[in-house]
Amino acid sequence: MKETILSGMQPSGELHIGNLESALKNWVRIQNDYNMYCCIADWHSLTSDHVNTGILKERVRELAVDYLAAGLDPETCAIFVQSDVKEHAELHLLFSMLITVPTLTRLPTYLEKKDEKGLDSYGFLGYPVLQAADICVYNADKVPVGKDQEKHIWLAADLAKRFNSLYGETLVEPQALLTKIPIIPGIDGRKMSKSYGNHIPLAAAEEDTAALILKMFTDPKKIRRGDPGTPEKCPVYHLHRVYSPNPAEEIAPSCRNGELGCVDCKKALAKNLNQSLRPFREKRVVIEKNHDYIWDILKKGAERARDRAAEVMAKVRAAMKLDYY
Ligand code: TRP
Repeated sequence: MKETILSGMQPSGELHIGNLESALKNWVRIQNDYNMYCCIADWHSLTSDHVNTGILKERVRELAVDYLAAGLDPETCAIFVQSDVKEHAELHLLFSMLITVPTLTRLPTYLEKKDEKGLDSYGFLGYPVLQAADICVYNADKVPVGKDQEKHIWLAADLAKRFNSLYGETLVEPQALLTKIPIIPGIDGRKMSKSYGNHIPLAAAEEDTAALILKMFTDPKKIRRGDPGTPEKCPVYHLHRVYSPNPAEEIAPSCRNGELGCVDCKKALAKNLNQSLRPFREKRVVIEKNHDYIWDILKKGAERARDRAAEVMAKVRAAMKLDYY
């Protein structure tokens, strides 16, 4: 029996190369080894914007295109939209009884964001409880996430454990599946993130990608060609390590001795990065045109997800003695 994995992303707008390298490629790599559910967490998006809901349809579709273009196989894993499987909401409600408000207000993800405009809602506070429901409603064994999400998985495991101790063994305690992920710095050298506005969009045209790379911060001590640089301190070099074939031989030494100027270094990176993304981008364009195909996959994925979630929720209701008839 294969173990079950639940993975998910919010449809919060265009993905960037960090999302592909650290999340999607990993999901694709493991999809054959697990019974996999790939969620498009549209309800989670509402926690940060519940007003402009009109853009969600397009964003959900775009994220589905990204999943598919990255190589997720809809025959192998169920690709579906969270709001298509109402059981997530039901388990979220039941879980909300099993957790205290202070536990949620102490979470770093909450503390970092709570003062932003519009993030003082009950729904935003409950974000990790909904995420726990996403996971536990499939009795998922593993959840592939980055370090920043690890506490949310612990919280899901705590909720499953608490449920089991109150109502009897019903839910699996999920574990984070942490993988070694490459460092993907943004244009300004900080972690690449859409909210920092320092990202390179996955779907960007090759010229736009090259233009963004030309704007990247470099080692501040290397001002002109001839100045010796320190590749380890340069975000451009970190991307070379992901996208260029022999960075330690072909880039680092000539940066260190000053021979390689930053503009040429960036041009080389742009060429390699664009080349690496080309198959993804080409596939994206083809899938993108096929609206019916995309919605069809999401519908079928939701049917599969619903089957599993319904089974788990029947057990949950029985354990809680909420199965009255
Ligand atoms: N919180 C995750 C993020 O921002 C997205 C997400 C929603 C998720 N539900 C999930 C991730 C369930 C893993 C499992 O990236």
